Amino acid sequence: MDQNEMKRAVARAAVSYVPQGIIGVGTGSTANFFIDELARVKNRIDGAVASSEATAARLKSHGIRVLDLNDVGQMEVYVDGADEITRHLHMVKGGGGALTREKIVAACSKKFICVADLSKLVDVLGQFPLPVEVIPMARSYVARELVKLGGQPRLREGFTTDNGNVILDVVGLSILDPVALETQINQIVGVVTNGLFAHRAADVLLLGTPDGVQTLLPG
Ligand code: A5P
Repeated sequence: MDQNEMKRAVARAAVSYVPQGIIGVGTGSTANFFIDELARVKNRIDGAVASSEATAARLKSHGIRVLDLNDVGQMEVYVDGADEITRHLHMVKGGGGALTREKIVAACSKKFICVADLSKLVDVLGQFPLPVEVIPMARSYVARELVKLGGQPRLREGFTTDNGNVILDVVGLSILDPVALETQINQIVGVVTNGLFAHRAADVLLLGTPDGVQTLLPG
């Protein structure tokens, strides 16, 4: 099974977690496979809340109704990928730049189902650069503060988030306490949010492996 086949397999497995009603949908290539699978059972749901403009467009292209989060309230399930995930189901997300909306939709969902292939499973987060969404005027200040935390921030060139902000990708962090670091970075003035999903970790990981899909619960 190659990487795309593993992504497709976890996307298909995630469909069994889709309840009736409205669900939250993430962003990225694995989430895209999920949207394509969701289209097969679209009559089961009333609609979806999208975590990015790209996801909204893909949902609509399949004829799935896209709803405003403010009109929905709490959802049963949110399905999304990850750039890195541990066996505690702490994640780094935001490689696609949608981290803030992803975190908001996840916060409004009772259960976070993470869909990922084996390459995303790590012992310690931080090999993947940690995305931090920043208000543009605070870019240099936030970068200096991130250096004080031991990271090396790099501006994601030519990229603006759906919220009109910039992304600093931080390399050189070995994230031994993701809950503490998530809080610490979010307290820097000018940070919108960072890509650590530790306070709100996943509840279930559907992990694509060459031998099939494994279901992992927080360890
Ligand atoms: C989007 O901002 C990200 O959080 C994605 O969910 C994450 O990058 C996983 O994407 P892939 O499924 O494309 O690896």
